[in-house]
Amino acid sequence: MKSFLGGAGNVVRNLKALGCRVALVSVVGEDPEGKEISQMLSSLSGVDASLVVEPSRRTTVKTRFMAGGQQVLRVDTESTYPIGRDTGEEVKKAIQGFLDCCDVVVLSDYAKGLLGAEILNFAISQAKDEGKAIFVDPKGSDYTRYRGASVLTPNLAELGQATGCLVDGDEGVVAAARKLIDLCGLDALLATRGREGMTLVSAAGEVMHLRAEAREVFDVSGAGDTVIAVLGAAQGIGVPLSGAAALANIAAGIVVGKVGTAVVRPQELLRAIHQQQASRAESKVMDLPSAVEMVAVWRRKGYRIGFTNGVFDLLHPGHLSLLSRAAGTCDRLIVGLNGDLSVRRIKGQAPVQNEGARSAIVASLEHVHLVVIFQEETPISLLEALRPDVLIKGGNYRLEEVVGADVVKAYGGEVVLAELADIYKTNSRIAKITNGTL
Ligand SMILES: Nc1ncnc2c1ncn2[C@@H]1O[C@H](COP(=O)(O)OP(=O)(O)OP(=O)(O)O)[C@@H](O)[C@H]1O
Ligand SMILES: [Mg+2]
Repeated sequence: MKSFLGGAGNVVRNLKALGCRVALVSVVGEDPEGKEISQMLSSLSGVDASLVVEPSRRTTVKTRFMAGGQQVLRVDTESTYPIGRDTGEEVKKAIQGFLDCCDVVVLSDYAKGLLGAEILNFAISQAKDEGKAIFVDPKGSDYTRYRGASVLTPNLAELGQATGCLVDGDEGVVAAARKLIDLCGLDALLATRGREGMTLVSAAGEVMHLRAEAREVFDVSGAGDTVIAVLGAAQGIGVPLSGAAALANIAAGIVVGKVGTAVVRPQELLRAIHQQQASRAESKVMDLPSAVEMVAVWRRKGYRIGFTNGVFDLLHPGHLSLLSRAAGTCDRLIVGLNGDLSVRRIKGQAPVQNEGARSAIVASLEHVHLVVIFQEETPISLLEALRPDVLIKGGNYRLEEVVGADVVKAYGGEVVLAELADIYKTNSRIAKITNGTL
């Protein structure tokens, strides 16, 4: 038989796997299972646990009987009545003792009798007094107990139970979230929606829907623990809430692909983020008809659209400086990239890197939103089709030299020459590389 820490213990395992130091306060019974939990926790380095023993209780144990990798039966032993007064006092002391050294407070409510109104009120008000963010994975129907917390992370069933609303679709989730934000005075609510992903709603009214990331799903149990652990850990190091939620969503997508209540390690998160960025970069490289459609969407949103063009072979700091200055003049930056044929035509020789490599590299830059490859000598047909609000070229050109400036000006667009810190020239670099002087 294998034993794992479950419930709040699984949140601890997740935090630990992320590299956090964790202090845990919980309650167990005076039984062998309580001792086993205590031993398991003390074997984890970087975890300080304060387990308050209440002799009248039974330690919560869930026994899963498996056959052929499937759970066929689960037997629970537990006491779920509220903890006694003395136990409560000890719990409060333990919380108080740990608060100083914490960056964030996570309250993992499994409705086993520990987090009643009094303990919650104490933990939240103390943490608030010390300026700590408080994340709660909630349970039950009376959420006024969580008043003053920063963020709640209910799943759909919990959101429905707490609000009495039918939480169906994006709008239902957002309406229920708003209700709880008002009721509990939250900064935000992150609703986890199983295979639908998650929705973050802030007190200021912003809504962010994150679609589920999982490719293969094996075991969804414990995904909620991973979500609150990643959310808390990321906020603890200053990641803004929207970014922390995006990380939690990626982590949940990883953990549901593992067997049992598993954890996510930083390397796995990083790998998933890199994959996501690579596929996002790939999707930024478009043919002209798709780019025209994308630009129409951006226009409807009122974005100012910028355009610059070039070969961008052997990307160097001069290119980066041009692209970041170009991005500073608009909301969405399109790069017209001279295709290999176009480069041969204007330079008489092929670029060092082909258009596939060059477009992938340029598209991987965060402030580049779209890359369109063109094979003509000039980007004029692109400018005519995309009609950017602003055309940007490096300051090494003079205004009258900028190809397409007349096209852009004719429809009322603007032409900007970006001042560059240093002028790098790819051709001279290539020459230096080939004659060995670089
Ligand atoms: N079937 C699924 N497919 C893809 N992603 C999923 C699936 N189920 C869960 N997830 C991911 O895990 C997150 C949390 O899942 P869920 O909403 O089921 O939380 P929960 O019910 O609190 O989980 P727990 O079992 O830990 O209590 C989701 O927001 C989503 O990102
Ligand atoms: Mg949950």
